[in-house]
Amino acid sequence: MDLSQDAINQVVQEALAAFASAGSTVELKAARAAHLGDKAPIVLANKALGALPKEERKAAGQVIGKARGQLNQAYAARESELKAVELEQALKAERVDVTLPVAKQPVGAQHPITGLMDLMSDIFVSMGWEIAEGPELEAEWMNFDALNIGPDHPARATSDTLFVEPLSNHLLMRTHTSPVQIRTLLDRELPVYIVCPGQTYRADEFDSTHVPVFHQIEGLAVDKGISLSNLLGTLDQFAKAMFGDAISTRIRPHFFPFTEPSAEVDLRCFVCHGESVGNPERPCKTCKSEGWIEWGGCGVVNPRVLAACGIDTDVYSGFAFGMGIERTLMFRNNAADMRDMVEGDIRFSRSLKGAAR
Ligand code: PHE
Repeated sequence: MDLSQDAINQVVQEALAAFASAGSTVELKAARAAHLGDKAPIVLANKALGALPKEERKAAGQVIGKARGQLNQAYAARESELKAVELEQALKAERVDVTLPVAKQPVGAQHPITGLMDLMSDIFVSMGWEIAEGPELEAEWMNFDALNIGPDHPARATSDTLFVEPLSNHLLMRTHTSPVQIRTLLDRELPVYIVCPGQTYRADEFDSTHVPVFHQIEGLAVDKGISLSNLLGTLDQFAKAMFGDAISTRIRPHFFPFTEPSAEVDLRCFVCHGESVGNPERPCKTCKSEGWIEWGGCGVVNPRVLAACGIDTDVYSGFAFGMGIERTLMFRNNAADMRDMVEGDIRFSRSLKGAAR
C-alpha cells in the first residue's frame, strides 16, 4: 500500500470532497462509512503502518494521524452544518399558523324527547322497575291480536297503521308500545314490573299536535294480587315526579281492548288551571276550556291478554299504562308546536336544554 504523503493527500482530498458533496445527514453517513469506516483507505493505511520498516514508520504515522484528525474534524463540521439545515427545513415544513381561522365543530345537544324518556325511565328504575325493549318493525299478532284487538277493530284500518310490504308477512310499524307487554310476558319470569320507552308510528297528519312518528312510554306490572288501586298509586307517583307535587290528575273511563276496566289519565290544564271551565270570557285553547288535558291511557290488564301469553289468570293480574312523550313535553316544558320536535333545529333542543332535569 502506498503510504506516501501524496497518496495520503489524495485519500484526504477524496474524503473531503465526499463529505462536502453530501446533501443530507443520510448521505453524509454513507460517506463516513466509505471514508472513515473499517475498510476506508485511511483506516487501511493506518493498519499498514505496522508493516513499514521502523525508520519510516514514525513519519508515515504522523502523516496518517494528521490526515485522520483532519477528516474527523471535517466530518463533524459538515454533520453539524447539515443538521442545522435539516432542522430549519423541518421547522418550515411543520410550521402552523396559529392565527388562521379554524373550521368550527358545532356542539350538539341532546333532543328533549330523549332527555324526557331517560328521566321517565329513571323514575321507574328508582322504584325497582326494569326497562324493556321491543322492535319498531313488529308482527301484526304482537301489535294487535295478542292485545285482544280483533281483525275488525278500527285501529287495524290501513289509514292508521303503516303495514310493511309484502302484506303477506303481516309486519307493520308498531302503532303503540303495547306489543312490548306481550314480548315481556312471553320472555320474562313473573312477576314483571317494566317500562318501555320507544318510538311508535301512525299514518297520521302532521300538524302542531300530531306527528306520524312519535314516542310513548309503556308500563306493565303483573304480579299476584294487583288491582286498580296499585295503578292509581303508581300513576300518582309518576305524575308528581314529572310535574311536581302540586299536579292534579284524574282518570276517566275509556275503552282499550287490552285493559278492563280502562281509563284515560288527564292532567290539570297547565295553561288555565281549570279556570276556563264555564267561563266563556276566558276560553282556553290548550284544553278547549275543559280544564283537563289527556296524558295517556291505562287500565287493568285484560285477562285475555294474560291468557294469550299462557299466564294463569286465577293467580296473576296486572295493570298497564301508556303515555305520549311529545304530549308530556308540551305540557311540562311549554313546547306548543310538535313540529318543532321533529324538524331538527338545534336551537329547539338548546332552548329546552336541561328540560329533563
Ligand atoms: N296503547 C294505548 C295507546 O296507544 C295506550 C295504553 C297503554 C292504554 C296501556 C292502556 C294500557 O293509546
